[in-house]
Amino acid sequence: MLLINNIGQLVTVGGNTPKKGKEMNDLNIIKDAYLVIDNEKIIDFGKKNKIDDRSKYNKVIDAEGKVVLPGFIDPHTHFVFAGDRSQEFKMRLKGIPYIEILKKGGGILSTVKATRRASYDNLLKQSNKRLDKFLSYGVTTVEGKSGYGLDKKTEIKQLKVMQELNSRDDIDVVSTFLGAHAVPKEYKGKSEEYIDFVIKKVLPEVAEKNLAEFCDVFCDDGAFSYQESEKLLRSAKEYGFKLKIHADEIKNTKASKLAGKLNAVSAEHLLKASTSGLKSIKENDVIAVLLPLTAFSLQEKYADAKKMIKMGIPVALASDLNPGSSYSQSIPLLLSLAVMYMEMTPEEAITALTINAACALNREEAIGSIQKGKKADLVLFDTTDYNHLFYNFGVNLVEKVYKNGRLVFDNDLEKRKSQKEDF
Ligand code: NIG
Ligand code: FE
Repeated sequence: MLLINNIGQLVTVGGNTPKKGKEMNDLNIIKDAYLVIDNEKIIDFGKKNKIDDRSKYNKVIDAEGKVVLPGFIDPHTHFVFAGDRSQEFKMRLKGIPYIEILKKGGGILSTVKATRRASYDNLLKQSNKRLDKFLSYGVTTVEGKSGYGLDKKTEIKQLKVMQELNSRDDIDVVSTFLGAHAVPKEYKGKSEEYIDFVIKKVLPEVAEKNLAEFCDVFCDDGAFSYQESEKLLRSAKEYGFKLKIHADEIKNTKASKLAGKLNAVSAEHLLKASTSGLKSIKENDVIAVLLPLTAFSLQEKYADAKKMIKMGIPVALASDLNPGSSYSQSIPLLLSLAVMYMEMTPEEAITALTINAACALNREEAIGSIQKGKKADLVLFDTTDYNHLFYNFGVNLVEKVYKNGRLVFDNDLEKRKSQKEDF
């Protein structure tokens, strides 16, 4: 049994259901707290003065009055890819729109070319490194999407990479099949035929090999229509996939309405979602996953988080890490954008990256808050007040990360120095 004692602020977040409206501000903080871990799970926590007999713990950690939060959860990423789009980034800086680059065969399609060419081992190595970076920011669960293959072989290669990386014991990976991410060059101008190919040839194999839990589609201008997306997602549902939609990012194509209609677990992006689209999401308990790093990188107007929260939609946040529209794992930047430009409160932003993010992955029973019986996925921050995660903006305050109760990342500077001396 492990005891973490002397926690200045234990930000429990609390609950195992999506937080809506005012609830998103409830972080259920315990000051001067302790927390007990046994068998990879949280078994007890509370006020420090309630600890009884210390001799029963195998190990006692002194948190020195610092802040502990549940491990962050990133519910929308595309971390498995090969190639480099820095030149495209420079084109975008000159004002060429993201979707124009895609329409001319660049963008997602340029990553598809590189990912098709990459060997399994190379893809694994690069993707593994990207997870390391997430972990250093306190992220203990990451969703990942395929969608840079757009052929059976490469889609499966990407999903297998994710499956293998999920066996890491310091971070969990949740896999999503995004075969309908763009129309591949082989099907140029024949998006309907491509959707039929995905439904008939790829989806059944992904289901049979149990390679993904969710199915997603990029339902937008320059990608797939409402009808094509509906056809694919209905078929995915029959195979037992849970649904996600890249919705209304570039244009309002009524994708958020579709998310409500099909009872998707989440609708993601929502930069251009209409009020009626948002109503459909609300009425059908769909989680809104918002991606501030993408709006930042595309220099677009941010999603209207304030309106969604006011409407009672549970809002989650994610990085959208991908080589085009959001090449960043920076949780500090993400949190800052959420509070500075989306008018979320610090408390709402933390809720959005913990319990509501867990709900967006259907993992709310196991992670996302500090509750007895949940996984001991915890982050210790080198500060005594969680507000410093925003006030001390852009700085990574993560000191230690625990996954299933085990220390998996330690940012202690002294330790790093002594490690260097060893070299
Ligand atoms: O979520 N919008 C579509 N897909 C990704 C971008 C992928 C890419 O540009 O490679 C996104 O932003
Ligand atoms: Fe995305």
